[in-house]
Amino acid sequence: MSQITQRLSLDNPAAIDTAVRVLAAGGLAAVPTETVYGLCGDATNGKAVAGIFEAKGRPSFNPLICHVADLAMAHEIAVLSAEALRVAERFWPGPVTLVLPTRRDDIPHPLVTAGLATVALRMPVGPLRDIAQRLGRPIAAPSANRSGRVSPTTADHVLRTLDGRIALVLDGGATPHGLESTIVGFAGETVSLLRPGPIGTPELEASLGLPIHARENGAPLTAPGQLRSHYAPHGRVRLDADRPSAEECWIGFGADPDGVDQARAATNLSPAGDLREAAANLFAALSLFDDPDLDAIAVAPIPDVGLGVAINDRLKRAAADR
Ligand code: TXA
Ligand code: MG
Repeated sequence: MSQITQRLSLDNPAAIDTAVRVLAAGGLAAVPTETVYGLCGDATNGKAVAGIFEAKGRPSFNPLICHVADLAMAHEIAVLSAEALRVAERFWPGPVTLVLPTRRDDIPHPLVTAGLATVALRMPVGPLRDIAQRLGRPIAAPSANRSGRVSPTTADHVLRTLDGRIALVLDGGATPHGLESTIVGFAGETVSLLRPGPIGTPELEASLGLPIHARENGAPLTAPGQLRSHYAPHGRVRLDADRPSAEECWIGFGADPDGVDQARAATNLSPAGDLREAAANLFAALSLFDDPDLDAIAVAPIPDVGLGVAINDRLKRAAADR
């Protein structure tokens, strides 16, 4: 999937317009924030979000931060408690991300949340926020680097690992913090620090008037995608299936085999066998068959290359998750 990556200085008056156009068309652009450069895609467009994972070469679907233009956009997507609102009003726009209960199933696209019932929201400083405003939609953006490489703080860093994999990089020079945002969890019973960052615990506690807890049991910070998700189905999941039995629901990929019309129910991640389309449809398909009356799901083999690695990682967890 090689393409020419355009580099535009933020001093260029066409820079923001160009980024809005790229994102509106489902493309990807790297844009600086006050923390690090973000690899941006329209958070409501499943294929764009799948493209983010593809460009990063991530072997699994970790949930992504969803960037909002203003509080109205945040309220549309998530439920902010009084405490969460205090932190947002004190620190946004700024380097704090809030993990909150989602309000709806479709925004952001379930691939952004990895099917969780929570969403990580942040209102950043700088052009990424202007772009979200102009686009009128939230923007999904992990750090703009290939998986396993250091987070980028300059446009050169971005191009070192993503040149040819994204449509555009906006060059705004070095980012001020150079460190990813602090992540605070508001979806549990207590407020918890999920990732340390530029805003420290004392400042957060002062604005909250409450103590912040370390993550429960000292569990690793990096594993929300490994939690049992909202969309992990009730039924037993059988992978690499040739065809469904009459008791099973079918999740196909590519051309369906004979016998699919006799299945309990059937869907197809991508009849054309396109991995990006399949990634975009994955959580919706698991959710579709997440019904106590449906006790078995058969899934067609997915090629274990590119985005297929991340799809198979998620399917294996759905199959093992009991
Ligand atoms: O400063 C930043 O936060 C940068 C800029 C671009 O905004 N973004 C960033 O994104 O660091 P990323 O994808 O590299 O890190 C996102 C982190 C991951 O550790 C992920 O596990 C966590 O946020 N996360 C996202 N959604 C979550 C959720 N629903 N629950 C818990 N953690 C979540
Ligand atoms: Mg990162």
